[in-house]
Amino acid sequence: MQVVSHALEGAVLVITVDNPPVNALSHAVREGIVNALSDLPSEAEAVLIVCAGRTFIAGADISEFGKPPLSPGLADVLEALENCPLPVVAAIHGQALGGGLELSLACDYRVLDSKARVGLPEVNLGLIPGAGGTQRLQRLAGVDTGLKLAVSGKPISANEALDVGIADAVFQDQLVTNAVAFAAETAKQKRCLRDAPAPPMDTDAFDRWTGYAHKKMRGQAAPLAVIDAVRHGLENGFEAGLKHERALFEDLVSSHQSKAMRHLFFAERLAGKPPRGVEGKPIALSQAGVVGAGTMGVGIALSLLAAGKDVVLFDVKPAALSVGYDRIRAVIDGDLAKGRISETEAASRRQRLTKAEDWSGFDQCDIIIEAVFEDMEIKKTVFAALAERVRADAILATNTSYLDIDELARSVPHPNRVLGLHFFSPAHIMKLLEIVRGEATSDDVLVTALALGKQMGKISVVSGVCHGFIGNRMISAYGREAGLLLLEGASPQAIDKAVTDFGMPMGPFTMADMAGLDIGYSNRKKLSPDQYETRAVLVHDQLVEMGRKGQKTGSGFYRYEDGNRTPLHDAKTDEIIAAVRTREGITPREIDAEEIVERCIFALINEGAALLGEGIAARGSDVDVVYANGYGFPRWRGGPFSYADQVGLDYVAERIASFAERFGTRWWTPAPLLIELAKSGGALATHEN
Ligand code: 3HC
Repeated sequence: MQVVSHALEGAVLVITVDNPPVNALSHAVREGIVNALSDLPSEAEAVLIVCAGRTFIAGADISEFGKPPLSPGLADVLEALENCPLPVVAAIHGQALGGGLELSLACDYRVLDSKARVGLPEVNLGLIPGAGGTQRLQRLAGVDTGLKLAVSGKPISANEALDVGIADAVFQDQLVTNAVAFAAETAKQKRCLRDAPAPPMDTDAFDRWTGYAHKKMRGQAAPLAVIDAVRHGLENGFEAGLKHERALFEDLVSSHQSKAMRHLFFAERLAGKPPRGVEGKPIALSQAGVVGAGTMGVGIALSLLAAGKDVVLFDVKPAALSVGYDRIRAVIDGDLAKGRISETEAASRRQRLTKAEDWSGFDQCDIIIEAVFEDMEIKKTVFAALAERVRADAILATNTSYLDIDELARSVPHPNRVLGLHFFSPAHIMKLLEIVRGEATSDDVLVTALALGKQMGKISVVSGVCHGFIGNRMISAYGREAGLLLLEGASPQAIDKAVTDFGMPMGPFTMADMAGLDIGYSNRKKLSPDQYETRAVLVHDQLVEMGRKGQKTGSGFYRYEDGNRTPLHDAKTDEIIAAVRTREGITPREIDAEEIVERCIFALINEGAALLGEGIAARGSDVDVVYANGYGFPRWRGGPFSYADQVGLDYVAERIASFAERFGTRWWTPAPLLIELAKSGGALATHEN
């Protein structure tokens, strides 16, 4: 297939890039553009670059990074565009991202479809723009915009691009026709940004974006490298800036951070594909039902509405139904007011939402998701009520964080239509969706759920059935070690600091206070003591029994002043911890940050390796996706498995063995898969069952 073609339209040479799915700048594309520019027909007076398919060029081909470079490189393409004797126009639809926007900046003019977006998202891959983006953009749109796009990595709309001077024109429709006319009539001169004067220094912008990088992108090297590259070009001129940008880019491409983030990029896309051996056909879903109008039910209904489904909402308590229904409409109104959705879309969502007066409201539903209280008997009652009334082929999904999907499925006829959909709260905001496949769940039902996840804009991961599925099963190992470290002598502050320094957004004790200590307390009451480490929660239990349930009661592990959420040291907590240690006969010892991090993170990794070995996760990369998207594991570490592979599985296995010697094998038995991969030189993040 020819990925680059060209044809004359009047006096305009139209070069079309057609490299599905996203027109990435693969070698053949680069070569095709350079060739087309090297042999201009004599009749041509201007050149137009357009893309076929759903988008303009979405960037360099990420899969080529880390491989030997193939000539021509992207810099050669940009040079050919700048050296082209004719004015060059880029016509942008869909997205012009990274190298795609950079290519357009080497053109003389840019015209955009009104729905197009442009951006420099390289920081999301642990990189900086590597083809002049940090130099040309500031010369075109000023320092603030140059920093904003490349530091935040967030794209902007066509109208914003017009406002800041990136776009020369925005067309409502007929982009190519309008762009050909623009090239013929308006694009009369070369306007090379390489030769444009440097913009004035903007100290405020540098301060603001440096602050942003430190606060919002803590631990990441790329945003600070962007700032360095922009400043270098401003102070030393275009050519020096370009050279500096290239050097920084090359360093970052081979860094752990960028490798980790590129791993997540592909892992997130792979996670949404059916696991090996699953060959179902997706079932069309148009009408969905939600049982339970509490926080989770509301979020799930909003996600379904965003996916274009008709939604029937029901709650056995009429008052709760009414509150939930109003809450959904309020969120839709809020999204409209913030410009997130159009008036037409808001009207459509309101119109597609209905309240059911009773169970019969679900008669026509293709899928019903229950989001009632986390209790097996209550969920069985709901499923029984549904099974009596809904179509025999309607999918029955349960939003549970821990419960046994197989037991629930066995309680209804046709268990092959049952599966778990574990949404994270708030369900309409959080990207992660664990799709729990029961022993009877049919392949058709599973692929339907994956398709629904995509329609809802979620990052879906398939999990098998076990207590807590992938995410919560692993987090309990992490929480257990944090609790034991506390008992052995580390303070909540020291533990929280060690893991936040590692890159977690919040420490386990700040997190527990925020979630409410009573939640875990009542969940534990449903477990038998052999299912968890009772010693790890002795302090938690003591706090709850004293009425210190966390933020909501003004104290837990920390104290909170005047409803403020800032955790403050509380001498009373120290006394409580000390009393528990004395009662248990424990002499506290000094514990350093390294031991804290290794015990918490390696426990997470070991539990993950155990469940991957059991086939609960289909792929190692799925575990990383769960942790990066549902539990705040630093993306620049790529997830727990990517991190384990980076520090070395033999090292992880050796540390786990030493913890087993010190603390016993009950919780520190190395997972067989971890041992196997450590021995064979394999990797957890790329392991596939
Ligand atoms: N290189 C290689 N493959 C890419 C790619 C890229 N830049 N962008 C997307 N793909 C692949 C995806 O892996 C996926 O493959 P699959 O079908 O085999 O899973 C396929 O294209 C479709 O991607 P999505 O599922 O993400 O499609 P969406 O429609 O949801 O999103 C998109 C489209 C917004 C363009 C999104 O793919 C995206 O954000 N891509 C990455 C953009 C990016 O980061 N660009 C910068 C690259 S680095 C760079 O340009 C360096 C330069 O400065 C030198």
